[in-house]
Amino acid sequence: MANKPLNVGLIGGGRGAFIVNPHQKAIHFDGTRRVVAGALFPDPKIALEEAANWPYPIKGYGSYDEMISAQAGLPAAERLDYVLIVTPNFVHFDPAMKALKAGIPVFCEKPLTVTLEESAELVKTVRSLKIPFGVAHTYLGHWTSRLSRYIVRSGLIGDVRWVDSYYLQGWLATKVEATGVQQAVWRTNPKMAGGSGCGGDIGTHALMQLRYVTGLDVTDVSAQLETFVEGRALDDHFTIYCKLSNGGKALVRATQIAIGHKNDLGIEINGTKGTLIWRQEEPECLTVHLSNQPDRVYWRGAVSPGDGFLPKDMPADLMAEPTVPPGHPEAFHDAFARLHRCFEADIRKWKAGEPFACDGSKYANVEDGWMGIAFIETCLKSGGSQGNWTAMPKLG
Ligand SMILES: NC(=O)c1ccc[n+]([C@@H]2O[C@H](COP(=O)([O-])OP(=O)(O)OC[C@H]3O[C@@H](n4cnc5c(N)ncnc54)[C@H](O)[C@@H]3O)[C@@H](O)[C@H]2O)c1
Repeated sequence: MANKPLNVGLIGGGRGAFIVNPHQKAIHFDGTRRVVAGALFPDPKIALEEAANWPYPIKGYGSYDEMISAQAGLPAAERLDYVLIVTPNFVHFDPAMKALKAGIPVFCEKPLTVTLEESAELVKTVRSLKIPFGVAHTYLGHWTSRLSRYIVRSGLIGDVRWVDSYYLQGWLATKVEATGVQQAVWRTNPKMAGGSGCGGDIGTHALMQLRYVTGLDVTDVSAQLETFVEGRALDDHFTIYCKLSNGGKALVRATQIAIGHKNDLGIEINGTKGTLIWRQEEPECLTVHLSNQPDRVYWRGAVSPGDGFLPKDMPADLMAEPTVPPGHPEAFHDAFARLHRCFEADIRKWKAGEPFACDGSKYANVEDGWMGIAFIETCLKSGGSQGNWTAMPKLG
């Protein structure tokens, strides 16, 4: 049956978990994907209880090992079409690798892994198996991120000179981890989060937004990783001056101590002909400034090709992406849904033995994930040498 929904298995997501919630809504958004199974918690007994209490029926497993190894014995119609990994960072690599080796596509939360060696292993495996793999860089899923990418990469604001890509939060301005808040406890523990706290958690989103929209890579960094909250084991403030692959420069910055800022991710790109500005907390529009012209504000769903700035021949896939009419606001969940929708399209092609893209144009792929970890490791090196310019490694 061509339109049978894809079956998704969750890895993580039980007992007070956060990011599983938007993901599972996004999976069900179109009726063409559904969650059917889960290994939701590290303790097998609790994992099964959590699955039994899930708001709709799913098959519970005591562990992800069990869930993955059970697939081979299931009838084809019941097998998982992909797994979603929503565990803390240190539990990304192992389930991802095991799922890939069992022939199951993977959609994994960011940052991809906690070491570059692990990320490189995943890249190697995905390339050799030629299997879909996505990384959940949520904000690429906003239609306005797609439009920003088109505008900048088409050269409509000229050559990129300077980018300010940022993610500002204030929720870790005090020692929240000492109060036992689950999300703060593992995010501030180097064994669970990786070598950088703030940088790994949200600096990677700012980096990915820059790379996605401009098509440029960071080649060298001069990094300052700072910890403002006393006794915290990882950075909570991350300020990185970057050289870009076209000779331009950028600031990639993130903080968790800026009281009042919630999920203030945004990007400003200054080109030789104009400037583009976008903020995810107001994700329905972007602004373009051109010299000696009135400012242009482009709203999702209300864009007219051939308006004197945008060309007549806008890409069909950009214009056709399903949306509700403008003025009925899209936001965070819609962005997640757009990522899962595009991942689904690649999985359906892969299942049919057809070529599939998985090229980073619709959602971040495993190479993008590797780049995020390479960036963090390079920033740690530079930060450890008082911000000396340090070159990024290259992915072979
Ligand atoms: N894309 C985004 O916008 C975004 C936002 C928030 C978090 N994240 C990422 O999502 C991941 C999870 O973050 P969170 O805030 O939801 O964390 P969380 O602590 O709320 O949830 C993690 C879940 O994983 C479970 N878990 C841990 N080890 C497990 C194991 N071995 N087997 C099964 N389940 C296990 C925990 O019990 C919990 O249910 C992190 O990698 C984080 O960086 C991404």
